[in-house]
Amino acid sequence: MTARRPLIAGNWKMNGLAADGRALASGVAEQRKTMGADAPFDMLVCPPYVLIPAVVAAVAGSGVEVGGQDCHTAEKGAHTGDVSPAMLKDAGCDYVIVGHSERRTDHGETDALVKAKAEAALAAGLKVIVCIGETLAEREAGLTLDVNRRQLNGSLPAGASAENCVIAYEPVWAIGTGKVATPEQAQEVHAAIRSELKGLVGGVAEGMRILYGGSMKPGNAAELMAQTDIDGGLIGGAALKVEDFIGIAEAAR
Ligand code: PGA
Repeated sequence: MTARRPLIAGNWKMNGLAADGRALASGVAEQRKTMGADAPFDMLVCPPYVLIPAVVAAVAGSGVEVGGQDCHTAEKGAHTGDVSPAMLKDAGCDYVIVGHSERRTDHGETDALVKAKAEAALAAGLKVIVCIGETLAEREAGLTLDVNRRQLNGSLPAGASAENCVIAYEPVWAIGTGKVATPEQAQEVHAAIRSELKGLVGGVAEGMRILYGGSMKPGNAAELMAQTDIDGGLIGGAALKVEDFIGIAEAAR
């Protein structure tokens, strides 16, 4: 099995004013530096758009990368309120999250749109985190694996590789609810996603990281990341506190 390097990614969502973002980013960067250059995991923070330049400056030289939380499919043009992948790249981002369930729900984003966004991001030289996950109703109806396979098939960008694409499995019922999937529940879906990926991208699937997201905390991160197919976390609430986010990273050792 290819060794996959864990990715600990913080999704700040719509939280933090400039001073908060700067303090959080500086705190994470400082702690990351004390972990040493050889820490066996990658760290990423995804602030709101307006904080990106300040966060990029705050984490410079620390090894912490920065990502956007969404992007448009076009490079530029008449799209009021949107931000292009090229703009994210230009602002210093390495990554962008696409297809988060909050985007799918709040903005009606479809698999086809998520795929188009991911392809635009790859074309701009960004790495993508493609989010998928079932709702509680879908889980209770026994549709968990079907839904995740369908979303994966519909959202995976052409040209996805282990280097430029990360999948995040985020059960919607676990996001921001304090209800975390058990390691067994998560591993079952992660394994199904990897197996589906094999059909889509062949041997590349073995090296592609699949993150778990949904109420991950320092106290549950180690047992989740100990599962064979869980390669890190996409963390919301706990990414807003330096000690919690760092605690999760430490659990990836
Ligand atoms: P949570 O959010 O950690 O607050 O549950 C995770 C996410 O939505 O990425």
